[in-house]
Amino acid sequence: MYQVIARKYRPQGFDELISQEHVKTTLGNAITQGRIAHGYIFSGQRGTGKTTVARIFARCLNCEQGPTPAPCGKCVSCLEIGEGSSMDVIEIDAASNRGINEMRELRESVRFRPARDRYKVFIVDEAHQITSEAFNALLKTLEEPPEWVVFILCTTESHKIPSTIVSRCQQFSFRSVDFAELVARMEWIMQQEGITADADAVAVLARAGEGSVRDSLSALDQAIACCGNKLDAAEVRTLLGMFSLESLGRVTTALAGNDAPEMFAVVAELEANGRSLQHFARELARHFRNLVVVKISGGETRLVAASQAEQQKLAEAAAHFSEEDLTRYLQLSLDLFRDLQSSLQPRLHLEMGLLRMVQAGRLLSIEEALAGLPGGTAGPGTRSASRAAPKPAQLAAAPAATAPLETLAGGDLRSRLHAALIDAKLTHVADALEHSELTESANELVFITPKMYQLYLKQSEFEAAAKRAAGRPVRITIKVGETARSSGQVVAAPQREQEAATRALSHPEVKRFQEIFPDAQVRTVRNLKDT
Ligand SMILES: Nc1ncnc2c1ncn2[C@@H]1O[C@H](COP(=O)(O)OP(=O)(O)OP(=O)(O)O)[C@@H](O)[C@H]1O
Ligand SMILES: [Mg+2]
Ligand SMILES: [Zn+2]
Repeated sequence: MYQVIARKYRPQGFDELISQEHVKTTLGNAITQGRIAHGYIFSGQRGTGKTTVARIFARCLNCEQGPTPAPCGKCVSCLEIGEGSSMDVIEIDAASNRGINEMRELRESVRFRPARDRYKVFIVDEAHQITSEAFNALLKTLEEPPEWVVFILCTTESHKIPSTIVSRCQQFSFRSVDFAELVARMEWIMQQEGITADADAVAVLARAGEGSVRDSLSALDQAIACCGNKLDAAEVRTLLGMFSLESLGRVTTALAGNDAPEMFAVVAELEANGRSLQHFARELARHFRNLVVVKISGGETRLVAASQAEQQKLAEAAAHFSEEDLTRYLQLSLDLFRDLQSSLQPRLHLEMGLLRMVQAGRLLSIEEALAGLPGGTAGPGTRSASRAAPKPAQLAAAPAATAPLETLAGGDLRSRLHAALIDAKLTHVADALEHSELTESANELVFITPKMYQLYLKQSEFEAAAKRAAGRPVRITIKVGETARSSGQVVAAPQREQEAATRALSHPEVKRFQEIFPDAQVRTVRNLKDT
């Protein structure tokens, strides 16, 4: 009889179990030290090994050679537990035996010693489905458990287990499994079964389970039934309704190239091929999530469920964007996914959402260009660079590095403080200090600073540095006001502002903005450093 792969390859010992390291170690130690509790709760995502570990643990306890963290697998106890036919290891499915009568029977059965083995192990699956009366009955048992009894409650919804029960059990949470380990396990299973598959096909199958080993192995069953002994990524993807990196990559390429028409083409093709637009939006959000992660953590990260070749492609795609861009696209794609869930016009929503992403990129560049912020001077590999756009013009007038140095009270203190700030790499704060006036008295330093700089000077780092520079106990006061230093700059500025305006109007992003909004007029070019 054909046995599904997930059951055929249920791990028989801790060594075969992937991930869940904390569970393996803690249970292993408990056995070695002879500290066996009477109640355990195994909680967590479905298909990650709860029932499997419960059975392994039962073997550890009841193996003829045990209790041992490495049961022999050959003795009668081990064999029977493996088959589910041991008298002393009782599996109860709470979904169908949830009532008080079953629990009463259970309480009866608990009172009798094990038939043959050391422990009587009760494995309760779907434990959150037990009724509250039945929980009460169980609680009585857990309050005064016979020495030979071990309960293992398995559940995907541990919050539904009453706290009176939880507090009498040791809880283990099972996590979704590590992608690389799952891939390795699946490759091993395929080898046993004589199945060959390319790396991308295995990655597609592993991903299909979304962290559940059982679901990934079911996908493998399905693929074998459909495609035979040789699995290829494209076929598997079609079978499971997944989207290739290439089709998701079309969206990112269109974003990098500011190509709105391509977005319509992508949507039209999805429709023509009868693909689910909701599913596409979901995969797209996941794609942006992966790009963000790769961008931040580098191409070698284990946090992305992808084969090496896929990871490489993700890293290449991510290089075209800044971290901020990708984060915003992720946000927009999540919004899009949410909107599509309830949309009666999924096609319109999808088109609109993709278009919005194109525009979000454009708007950002304009902001960046106008602000001349450090983030705006795109380094190699960011989107602006890949579009070969010139660096955003430095529209803001240069800081008053050349401003006349008045002899103000506290001149020495000012330069000491300035040096200290530079040393501490607080260049923005040092810059703010340049624009501020300082009056010094015996026990107070008063800084008068233009509004835009006040936040820099109100930082605790600045206060600490100022006190240190003063070298005596002083109070630090920050006042907002125009200063000779800041207004001096404005007097010198008109010509520079004129130049800045010319540069702003000829900037490609501004021109593009005017193309999109032909009726828009540029009224003023504001120097953001002066506001
Ligand atoms: N950590 C794991 N390592 C190796 N295989 C695993 C692991 N977790 C699950 N499997 C595979 O998935 C199958 C199902 O696992 P198991 O029954 O232990 O899941 P579960 O956590 O009890 O799920 P559910 O919550 O749905 O009951 C196993 O037979 C095994 O093939
Ligand atoms: Mg289970
Ligand atoms: Zn054994």
